Amino acid sequence: MLDHLTVVKHPLIQHKLTLMREKDTPTAVFRQLLREISQLLAFEITRELPMTTKRIETPICEMDAPVLDGRKLALVSILRAGNGLLDGVLELIPSARVGFVGLYRDEETLQPVQYYFKVPPELDNRLVIAVDPMLATGNSSAAAIDLLKGAGASDIRFLCLLAAPEGVARMKAAHPDVPIVTAALDERLNEKGYIVPGLGDAGDRMYGTK
Ligand code: URA
Repeated sequence: MLDHLTVVKHPLIQHKLTLMREKDTPTAVFRQLLREISQLLAFEITRELPMTTKRIETPICEMDAPVLDGRKLALVSILRAGNGLLDGVLELIPSARVGFVGLYRDEETLQPVQYYFKVPPELDNRLVIAVDPMLATGNSSAAAIDLLKGAGASDIRFLCLLAAPEGVARMKAAHPDVPIVTAALDERLNEKGYIVPGLGDAGDRMYGTK
């Protein structure tokens, strides 16, 4: 069982995260680093996937070799910044089904507003990994998980790059059954809802929109 919060302190992740935080890191490098970190985090979030064995033949002999058991995973990107994490994880788990939840944050109320929802069928039968780089207030993430549960998902994990204590608390209150895996737990949110020290707006930094 994963804990409610897992901070993955692997040196490679921490080094790459520092490069991402630096304000002058170019867009293309930022995206590449996010892709690399997403794969290292995916390693952690999939650590306890159920396994079975399959009879195979190596050039030397037969053996019962380990393979992933059963159900296809569903990866759900919380748009738009989630796509930066999604790409890397999907490269690692190419057979996963993919869904998208479109939520934007109203800059005044900081509340999530839904504009898109498309997920794979039979979510009730799948491990669902929801991805969003920034767990800030937790409002969007909790709302996205509400929607996924509404669509039948009952085995959900949440993968992010940075988390604020406020967001972790919000998720724990709303969805204590959803384990969170992140690369860092930062200090706090500022008055605009940005994570401090953070890395700024992940979507803007990923796509060069500011
Ligand atoms: N979303 C971001 O992209 N960055 C933050 O710091 C908080 C929310």
